[in-house]
Amino acid sequence: MTDRKAASPSFPATRMRRNRKADWARRLVAENTLSVNDLLWPLFLVDGENKRESVPTMPGVDRLSVDEAVRAAEEAASFGIPVVALFPYTAADKRNPTGSLAHDPENLVCRATRAIKEAVPNIGVLCDVALDPYTSHGHDGLLSGDIIQNDETVEALVKQALVQVEAGCDIIAPSDMMDGRIGAIRKGLEDAGHKDTQIMSYAAKYASAFYGPFRDAIGSSGALKGDKRTYQMDPANGNEALREVALDIAEGADMVMVKPGLPYLDIVTRVKDEFGMPTFAYQVSGEYSMIAGAIERGWFDRDRVIVESLTAFKRAGADGVLTYFALDAAKLLAKG
Ligand code: PBG
Repeated sequence: MTDRKAASPSFPATRMRRNRKADWARRLVAENTLSVNDLLWPLFLVDGENKRESVPTMPGVDRLSVDEAVRAAEEAASFGIPVVALFPYTAADKRNPTGSLAHDPENLVCRATRAIKEAVPNIGVLCDVALDPYTSHGHDGLLSGDIIQNDETVEALVKQALVQVEAGCDIIAPSDMMDGRIGAIRKGLEDAGHKDTQIMSYAAKYASAFYGPFRDAIGSSGALKGDKRTYQMDPANGNEALREVALDIAEGADMVMVKPGLPYLDIVTRVKDEFGMPTFAYQVSGEYSMIAGAIERGWFDRDRVIVESLTAFKRAGADGVLTYFALDAAKLLAKG
């Protein structure tokens, strides 16, 4: 970068407002542009048929039965959204301490993956890998007493990833933050001949209060005992995120993710600058609900705040964003 002072003469030779004087002029100098290709759309699944169930803490977001999820994926594909991400709601009576439903090939995620891949072959399906939708204690891993067992959990995650890939999942997204899971899953995939399965690791995932509404959406909030601070990162740390990302890349991640999104844009920028990897951010449930709640009350201009919040990710260096606003944003972008 050249010396900015030398490059720009002072006022009035320089008037910054010249380039902002009209819509066409602003478009001409825009440094970043949000496109539909930047959007990954998380969907919540629920058992049943023809069912849409609202998530009370996420205005405008529903849990969808598999047939409804297929319709949602069709609509997403019709707008050019590249990927849907699947998250199951699991009732308390289907959960157990080991979360064994996670590696049942007939679980909701696997059924939805098969149905979407069959009906909408040109959309990518991303599946989260973590045990929390299935455990009775709501943790992402296996417990012994109140300690999460890292290596035993990793074995369960490999099994979970394999059933999802066998159902047709394109992108495996481990969100559990166990050590060594990317390497183990990569090896499991290669050994089973799944050479083209992408891994998008939740590489820098923080122990965040912004996940509150998501836990409600998947039925974990009542279940969760304690917190996730022994595996998810401390929000105070930045350098540690780079170490996490470096390890996941070395173990075989194709893409990395930072999560949450807006409060962690500094991390997105540092990760992108340091590694130059395909880098994604997750505008998580709490971020969505803050914005959607304010829109609902008429406090924010809906269209503008959606595009502004997502464009911020692009400016920070993200290649794409997982966002519950994906379909809304795609519609806005299609309108131009
Ligand atoms: C599960 C998982 C979580 C999210 C994605 N995968 C929650 C958590 O770690 O407790 C959060 C997504 C969101 O808040 O939108 N491991």
